[in-house]
Amino acid sequence: MSELIEVSTRDGSYSLRSVFYQENFHSLLGALEETKLKFTAPSNLQRFKGKSLNVLDICFGLGYNSASLLDELIKQKTYLNLYALEIDKKPLEYSLRKKSFLELWAPKVKKIFESLYRKDYFEDQFFKCSLLWGDAREKINIIPSAIKFDLIYLDGFSPQKCPQVWTIEFLSKVTEKLNSQGYLITYSSSAAVRRTLRNLGLEIFTIKPSFNKGTLWSQGTVAISKFDKNKLKPNFNFEKLSVMEEEHLLTKASIPYRDKDLNSSKEDIIKKRLDEQLLSNLVSTNKWRKKWGMTKSSVKS
Ligand SMILES: C[S@@+](CC[C@H](N)C(=O)[O-])C[C@H]1O[C@@H](n2cnc3c(N)ncnc32)[C@H](O)[C@@H]1O
Repeated sequence: MSELIEVSTRDGSYSLRSVFYQENFHSLLGALEETKLKFTAPSNLQRFKGKSLNVLDICFGLGYNSASLLDELIKQKTYLNLYALEIDKKPLEYSLRKKSFLELWAPKVKKIFESLYRKDYFEDQFFKCSLLWGDAREKINIIPSAIKFDLIYLDGFSPQKCPQVWTIEFLSKVTEKLNSQGYLITYSSSAAVRRTLRNLGLEIFTIKPSFNKGTLWSQGTVAISKFDKNKLKPNFNFEKLSVMEEEHLLTKASIPYRDKDLNSSKEDIIKKRLDEQLLSNLVSTNKWRKKWGMTKSSVKS
């Protein structure tokens, strides 16, 4: 499952390509840039200065999202309880060997990653971190139910390539772990994922595109269970969905991925969804694309 090829991205940071999933871990524009724009910035970490927070990093991979989080929290003296879920140990092995990756962060990040690799655990005065190796659909059950997360990062391969981590059933388990003001953050702006999160009772927001970088209409999604919209400040990196994005949720693309017993294969999940799409009366996604002058994106989205 884990044949991996090293790739370098346009901002100079390295990433991997999975032969099995036929997809890169990050956009070729930049692994570091993607982490900062799509995960770290929307987290609004300064809210936690001098306080403590719980974070769940789903699909830890090379560890960019956790490393960037740790690096920021080291600077602002925040207490952190971090859980990470990942099926494959190889990406972390790569990161620990890659000097240019380790040099991006405070030296303590390397110490934490080494401990996660050897002992699946790290603890000091500020940080408590656990890496649960295995299928996230199963390992999420090990996290004590009393722990509610302030931030949940969801960074799986795209829903078409790895639907297992985007189904109603898995996202329902994930959102149960979110505290009422917590943010679930993902790079995905898939209509199926957004619709599912909304149906699970969350408010959904779009991560603002950065036009100067030539990115498309959204950099991802932030989902929050009880968000006071009056508190949305212009400096937040996310905002309400545009009309175009709302209409996306009315198309066949919004038909969810399903995995009743949380053990289906990728092929079964995709097939069930295709069958459901064929029978659906919803607007075709092509019609929506044409209306808004879109081309089909071929990257993880
Ligand atoms: C897009 S990459 C993650 C990128 C990552 N956040 C980083 O900084 O490198 C997706 C990751 O999901 C992992 N993965 C795939 N299926 C999984 C599953 N069912 N449970 C847990 N991890 C899974 C892959 O091994 C891969 O490392």
